[in-house]
Amino acid sequence: SDLHALIERLPKAELHLHLEGTLEPEMMVALAERNGVDIPYASAQEARKAYDFSDLQDFLDLYYVGMKVLVTERDFHDLTLAYFERAHADNVRHAEIFLDPQGHTERGIDFDVCMRGVLSACEETEERFAITSKLILCFLRDLSEEKAFETLEACKPWLDRIEAVGLASAEKGNPPSKFARVFQAAADLGLKRVAHAGEEGPAEYVEEALDVLKVDRIDHGNRALDDMALVRRLKATAMTLTVCPLSNLALKGVARLEDHPIRTMLDLGLRATVNSDDPAYFGGYVNENYRRAADAVGLTREDVIQLAKNSFLGSFLGEEEIYAHL
Ligand code: ADE
Ligand code: ZN
Repeated sequence: SDLHALIERLPKAELHLHLEGTLEPEMMVALAERNGVDIPYASAQEARKAYDFSDLQDFLDLYYVGMKVLVTERDFHDLTLAYFERAHADNVRHAEIFLDPQGHTERGIDFDVCMRGVLSACEETEERFAITSKLILCFLRDLSEEKAFETLEACKPWLDRIEAVGLASAEKGNPPSKFARVFQAAADLGLKRVAHAGEEGPAEYVEEALDVLKVDRIDHGNRALDDMALVRRLKATAMTLTVCPLSNLALKGVARLEDHPIRTMLDLGLRATVNSDDPAYFGGYVNENYRRAADAVGLTREDVIQLAKNSFLGSFLGEEEIYAHL
């Protein structure tokens, strides 16, 4: 359709993308073989069949198993480059990508190995595809504050290559306030801050991410709509929400895509964006998220253009860089 053609040709930024969530089953099987790592699937097809999730934790259990095939610097490089090839096909011009270092350091992979592999692929991407990128390192919120501080310490030699810290993994029972001190320390190092909030957790966690973690963006933020005072605050401060429709569907945040709040968010004047989260697990990269969401909730051409604009406005690019994309 015309709307799909518009989506495909619009320049976009992607602001919510876990690199480890771009690990396609084919690459998982190939890397398992290459590295002699055991995975619970005999084939890519078998892995795909297992991707039927009841909630966030159910997904995370498979996500942390899948990433065990990532061992060498080359693995991280190949994973990252494969993502950017797909992003290029979707006309993504800028990406701010998450890495979960604790998913690797906790199983004995060196932090610097991950960083070298990812960053060399980012450089190659800028040369080959003219896609710019920034790196956001997420703390795993189901692990301790102490472990997060260890991760922040490992970041110090890489500060000029890290844009922000984030907060990911199991939200329920792990409120933003658990990481108040480590986020303050990250701010003192000059890092920007984002946090997953209101994906499964309550609107209060969104408020806490703003008040306690002083975040520059909210990842997801769906549950903020339960609190109209919070909605007014998000609107008044032009806070960016990095929304992920196919993720919300796969993890049962919404029963049907027709029930997805993306249209409501735009109608309320919120700076919502569309992103792919863990595309290898949730059935589509960024354009597929735009297309499926647009069809399901009836986005207009103007809505789609606004979403693409919001993706640059909400990015950590400088003001002139942003305007060059609009
Ligand atoms: N890690 C990878 N994907 C995630 C998500 N959707 N929510 C929280 N943590 C994640
Ligand atoms: Zn996410």
